[in-house]
Amino acid sequence: MTDPAVPAARPDGPPQGVLSDLRARLHTEVEKVVVGQPEAIDSLLVALAVGGHALLEGVPGVAKTLLASTFAQALGLEFRRAQFTPDLLPSDLTGTMTLRDRELVFRPGPVFTNVLLADEINRTPPKTQAALLEAMQEGQVTIDGEGHPLPQPFLVVATQNPIEYEGTYPLPEAQLDRFLVKVLVDYPTEAQERALLGLARRGLKPTGSEHVQRVVGADDVRAARAEVDATAVTEEVAAYVTSLVRATRSLPSVAVGASPRAGVHLLVAAKASARLWGRHYVIPDDVIRVAPAVLRHRLVLRPEAELERLTPDAAVANAIAATPVPR
Ligand SMILES: Nc1ncnc2c1ncn2[C@@H]1O[C@H](COP(=O)(O)OP(=O)(O)O)[C@@H](O)[C@H]1O
Ligand SMILES: [Mg+2]
Repeated sequence: MTDPAVPAARPDGPPQGVLSDLRARLHTEVEKVVVGQPEAIDSLLVALAVGGHALLEGVPGVAKTLLASTFAQALGLEFRRAQFTPDLLPSDLTGTMTLRDRELVFRPGPVFTNVLLADEINRTPPKTQAALLEAMQEGQVTIDGEGHPLPQPFLVVATQNPIEYEGTYPLPEAQLDRFLVKVLVDYPTEAQERALLGLARRGLKPTGSEHVQRVVGADDVRAARAEVDATAVTEEVAAYVTSLVRATRSLPSVAVGASPRAGVHLLVAAKASARLWGRHYVIPDDVIRVAPAVLRHRLVLRPEAELERLTPDAAVANAIAATPVPR
């Protein structure tokens, strides 16, 4: 099932292709401002390349907002930010009908953009969360029975604090499923934490963002999507994805495993990941690389497992360990 129209990467040269090229460019730009978090940049790019959305999770002060806004800045696309405060209303996001010259006209909200930073999404009540998630799912907003299509590409990068925090509204599992990837933004290493103290700043504000260039345009996104679609998948790799997804359902620690939709998302993300590394066909390692980001937010652990502090990532690792890899 190889595609002769797509050239293979030269085994001896640097990776070739739209996505591997975008990856190099984006890392260069984002790393001007953000120390570390290379996997997070890759996951954001995977989401962009397949028309998915990304959720960044981490404790306050680990540069979630900085990472999301710098990534967006490096894309030459329209970018808006919405702070999800407790009093944010659905219409603050989607837009409202307003009177202009005695006529009711639709005034679009911030969701009408290419890249939306939905910052601290779990601080807003469920009604407003649902308005965003509907827009993500349907690619349009319905006001007074009339549909208003969102621009293309449309990428939501949401951030949230871990759910144990007070005064938060955790997203329901059914809605989490709409995020292609959930990226854990962890503490930096000691060396990285020292390096970030050396970044240029004006007062408390980082100034590196003035040097971030727009290196990805709408045409690049279209080309990347075509490249992902043309990525070859063998029967063996497809069977591996199926087995891995099914393995999550029979883990003793898991009450609800990954859905068939999760399997679709896993395979498509693996295709994008193959392209990030300059390959035109998927290998099991691509699946394994993206599996934690694609699956961790779709597993519901049993209460006993949560009490034992087992994490969804550990469950994903167990599913990987239990699934024979085709060679
Ligand atoms: N990895 C990092 N690289 C560069 N700056 C960082 C990093 N982690 C924290 N910072 C600094 O901490 C600030 C807080 O980042 P912010 O994006 O507001 O965090 P969060 O959204 O996770 O609460 C940043 O503006 C930056 O000055
Ligand atoms: Mg923040």
